[in-house]
Amino acid sequence: MRKNIVAGNWKMNKTLQEGVELAKELQTALKGKTVNCDVIICTPFIHLATVNGVIDGKTVRLGAENCADKVSGAYTGEVSAAMVASTGAKYVILGHSERRAYYGETNAILKEKVKLALENNLTPIFCIGEVLEEREAGKQNEVVKSQVTEALFDLSAEDFGKIILAYEPVWAIGTGKTATPAQAQEIHAFIRQTVAVKYGAAVANETSILYGGSANAGNAKELFSNPDVDGGLIGGAALKVDAFLPIVEAF
Ligand code: PGA
Repeated sequence: MRKNIVAGNWKMNKTLQEGVELAKELQTALKGKTVNCDVIICTPFIHLATVNGVIDGKTVRLGAENCADKVSGAYTGEVSAAMVASTGAKYVILGHSERRAYYGETNAILKEKVKLALENNLTPIFCIGEVLEEREAGKQNEVVKSQVTEALFDLSAEDFGKIILAYEPVWAIGTGKTATPAQAQEIHAFIRQTVAVKYGAAVANETSILYGGSANAGNAKELFSNPDVDGGLIGGAALKVDAFLPIVEAF
């Protein structure tokens, strides 16, 4: 059966010291508790190595928020997938809408990033989702289909099986406006169907599809109760243990 996953996306928040404190607090709060999902925190690059030392990698797992689309070399300021892996991180968020919108990341660039992440044994948490105008024009299915097709559908079935998908409607991110559980279920089922057409039902059924966009303690349970919603990618509510923990416990 596919995994339930709650992943925090810290974005550009927390100094190193604050981040280490948050990671420690979360590890302590969850240690010894039975939860019905994998818990991942995705932190800024500079936090990774230190945070890796204060979590056990099982109770709380570690990921980055991005990686470069190049292997190594003269790319000032970039951080490669191999570097991310060398910190002990096991996951990497790729294709977040903020990266697409503010840093010009195209599906072609993301295809390279996914390839390099997989080569370095990082599990991509691959984000897709439409902007408000696309939703209003009823184009959301078309948009997410082209995002997965262009960035991911050249992968072998084996490699695709390693991907976690995150549906994040851009209009819901950081806005306090969540997709309704029905909207989430509808498009998650469509995404799973799209995967099934390409890779078969078995691969599609094993693919975790997370919802992201103003998910919080108040709406997580209802969102996660949908058959095709396998967890959440959590921004704002991942920055405090007492906001994040109830989301983990919503499963
Ligand atoms: P949010 O962010 O929970 O703050 O809306 C989610 C995300 O961007 O991953």
